[in-house]
Amino acid sequence: MSMDRIRELIDRMTLREKLGQLQIVFRPKLEDAAELVRAGLGSVFWPPSAAATNSLQRVAVEESRLGIPVLVGLDVIHGQRTIAPVPLAQAAGFDPALVTELAALAAAEARSGGVTWTFSPMADISRDPRWGRVVEGFGEDVHLTSTMVRAMVRGYQGGDLTSRTSLAATAKHFVAYGAPEGGRDYNGVDASDHQLRNVHLEPFRAAVEEGAAGVMAAFNTVAGVPMHANRRLLTGVLKDEWGFDGVVVGDAEGVRNLVAHRVAGDEAAAVVLAFEAGLDVEMGGAPADLTDEALTRIDGRRLDDAVARVLALKERLGLFDDPYVDEDAEITEPSARSRRLVRRAAARACVLLRNDGTLPLGSPRRVVVTGPYADSTDHLGAWTQYFGARAGTIADRLRDRLPDAVLEILPGVGFLDEDGSGIPAVVAAAHSADVVVICAGEPSALSGEAASRSDLRLPGRQEDLIRAVAGTGTPFVVVLESGRPLVVADWIEHAPTVVAAWHGGTEAPAAIVDVLLGDEDPAGRLPMSWPRSVGQIPIHYAHENTGRPATTGGTLSADETDVGLHGPDNLQDKFTSKYLDLELGPQFSFGHGSSYATFACGSPTVSREHVECSALDAGAAVTVSLDVTNTSARSGDDVVQVYVEDVVASVAPPVRRLVAFERRTLTPGETASFTFEIGRDQLGFWMTDAAQPRFVVEPGVFRLHVGSTLASMQSVELLVS
Ligand code: NOJ
Repeated sequence: MSMDRIRELIDRMTLREKLGQLQIVFRPKLEDAAELVRAGLGSVFWPPSAAATNSLQRVAVEESRLGIPVLVGLDVIHGQRTIAPVPLAQAAGFDPALVTELAALAAAEARSGGVTWTFSPMADISRDPRWGRVVEGFGEDVHLTSTMVRAMVRGYQGGDLTSRTSLAATAKHFVAYGAPEGGRDYNGVDASDHQLRNVHLEPFRAAVEEGAAGVMAAFNTVAGVPMHANRRLLTGVLKDEWGFDGVVVGDAEGVRNLVAHRVAGDEAAAVVLAFEAGLDVEMGGAPADLTDEALTRIDGRRLDDAVARVLALKERLGLFDDPYVDEDAEITEPSARSRRLVRRAAARACVLLRNDGTLPLGSPRRVVVTGPYADSTDHLGAWTQYFGARAGTIADRLRDRLPDAVLEILPGVGFLDEDGSGIPAVVAAAHSADVVVICAGEPSALSGEAASRSDLRLPGRQEDLIRAVAGTGTPFVVVLESGRPLVVADWIEHAPTVVAAWHGGTEAPAAIVDVLLGDEDPAGRLPMSWPRSVGQIPIHYAHENTGRPATTGGTLSADETDVGLHGPDNLQDKFTSKYLDLELGPQFSFGHGSSYATFACGSPTVSREHVECSALDAGAAVTVSLDVTNTSARSGDDVVQVYVEDVVASVAPPVRRLVAFERRTLTPGETASFTFEIGRDQLGFWMTDAAQPRFVVEPGVFRLHVGSTLASMQSVELLVS
């Protein structure tokens, strides 16, 4: 259908029919949905099956006055039937091509059931692990998040939305939803333009460039203006400046919430405010007091523009030509191939936080498997309540893989309760075991929407269990499953071997066993810093340079002169940016991780040491290269990361920021050359000193830090003039 046909259709619509196209009704009962669609409703959230969506499409096409097919939306976040690792875990894989494959799998499964529109990926930058939704995004870093957002959009949408394996993607939550005050979901955000441009908006800009069909408005305020009513950002930046021509959808009841935000007196006023700000589709129940008179308060051209965007999306999806799906081809179960894919992804998401050589396990004869995750099936993570295939248990998978070993499965403690009476039995069993595998963590329900926590330690008595096992002297491994970084300070020094496995999805137990036995290399890297204490939050590696950087932290002791309270001795250290009662930096930084293999890095080199700004503006780039050799007797993955340090800038720059990375498998003895392009996009930043922000590269010296972890970087300088 051409734009002319869309215009023609809009000309024939009543005001009510236009409004119908501008709503997605949230989880209606099937019979109610049919009634609403017959009356002209444009989109429905929550399709139970291919047959049900076909019957709704039939009502739309055959029984509604204009015969416009419906959009069927759903939160397909990390899988539909076959559940992939949670997005935070996918980020830990540092493997964008794999993220694309996982999204393509999810899209094919969901579209086969009639879903056409997903509310994913989450493009929010998360620097506060108290916020439960960190699980749904790609962590704290702008470049990593933008890269993964692009990868996911590509996977969902493919090259052609009419394909029966594609979904329209929605980048959410526009914008800065990841920075709520206090880490409490839905709370207000006060971000400067400098922060918005350089941090929060960037992944959305990437999504728009990648052709994402939708963008969802966030629940939060930005500088006092709720995003559902934020004309400056929804229309000014997203649509006018970036040229986004897709659909801006509201979050569930986000328009209605404008009343609770106290920026609208009633629902009708809220609807007017939201559409005038640039919203195109309202998600929720139909607003109760929306009269025709209220609708006429919205500028007619704005209303028509919103309707045109919705119809154009339906057209892009091919729904006007064929709105139905083949009910016989509906995918309702994971296939062997899809299971293999998510198993590999779950293993690649694992991050080896520490290893004293206990991993991989080899062929132990007596194994104790303990902790609440030992025998649990809760591996899917947030957002899988709809259709996801259940996962098995780690204990069962270990039994399958170690048929000759004696396995004792003793959970010892629960996830949350304070009952530690099972710990002595675990200790007794550990004494006569070759190795103990402690499967600990946060159950899925503790992360996700409306699941913020103020205490990020392992809940219940799990820490006691770890300390008790450590006391036996038997080698042991801690496998942590969680939807966020945890605070592990109270036990980590007692636990020399720890793997972060996140929530890995349908095949998580098999993948964890693959990692334990060394079939897969847990060479992921942390996509978010793990704090030492909740008191350090928000925490992220790319913080601004302070005028008073500290070199020591945690100097508080019984002797008050140590902290420079008296006498001149410590004055230099006293007035620096730190906590007196905490060591400097996080427990584990962003980018931290390791491998079962060992690697030696050469020195980084640049293709040239000097480049002119004008050349960068014209598209020139410098390459930085590094040789890495696998010095071990096994294959393994290295993840080479490149960070830029802008030595002197006109705005205090972050200490470093990631600009490139690559994960590659190296065979024993293999030397591989990693090469990265560094150009304008990598060296510049958004300058917000004038009404219209500009992306600038300032002349001066840049240090490029290259290596496998932040702690082991080597640097090389580049002069820009
Ligand atoms: C609220 C969430 O914030 C959003 O991400 C989701 O897409 C909608 N609910 C619909 O479930």
